[in-house]
Amino acid sequence: MLKLLLKLTLPAAFLLTTAVVFQKPALFAQESRMNNAQLDSSDGFGKVLVVYYSLSGNTKNIAMRIKEKTNADVYEIKTVEKYPPAPILYITAKKQINPKNYPQLQDKMPDFEKYDLIFVGSPVWWYTAAAPVLSFLSQADFKGKTVVPFATHGGNYGSFFEDFAKKAKNAVIINGKDFKKVKKEKEDSLNDKITVWLKSLAVEL
Ligand SMILES: Cc1cc2nc3c(=O)[nH]c(=O)nc-3n(C[C@H](O)[C@H](O)[C@H](O)COP(=O)(O)O)c2cc1C
Repeated sequence: MLKLLLKLTLPAAFLLTTAVVFQKPALFAQESRMNNAQLDSSDGFGKVLVVYYSLSGNTKNIAMRIKEKTNADVYEIKTVEKYPPAPILYITAKKQINPKNYPQLQDKMPDFEKYDLIFVGSPVWWYTAAAPVLSFLSQADFKGKTVVPFATHGGNYGSFFEDFAKKAKNAVIINGKDFKKVKKEKEDSLNDKITVWLKSLAVEL
């Protein structure tokens, strides 16, 4: 009975928290408006890989824009088991944040050696990276590669970037970026944000 009560109340509490707490100003990279935001070949990213996980399309949306702008290869993280619909999804996701319960992934790891720059994108789940991305990071060794994390979320990315930095073994991490409520963003504004961010990375490389 207590279990059932928890199953029903936990997601509701989470949604309420989302509405109230997820309203943190969320900018990691410096941002300014730009017209005609396109990268040019002088940005010099080298060979780029975009790794991402996406359950409802937001992180995929950003990943595909990065791919287009940097001419990247793409690696999608996929789990062996499908996630249940909400509200059970929230309980399953919470359990899987524990390293003992990381979900099994479908594919073998990509060969990082081929790349100069690796983006890793994740939805925020329970104020940290989504469990499939935690699972991916637990298997990855970035061996001195430059890695750029990005996150999509509903308003509060919590300790996403700190956790990511701790878990991405041997990575040199440069400024990540969060994207709040992707579906509500206007096309131009989203594109500009990404381009400004990518340009800021090019300066760091
Ligand atoms: C299990 C779960 C937990 C979530 N936890 C958070 C959270 O802690 N903070 C937040 O701002 N949004 C949270 N969200 C909202 C997602 O981060 C947001 O909708 C994200 O853009 C989804 O990405 P996707 O469409 O690529 O799956 C959560 C969503 C789910 C499904």
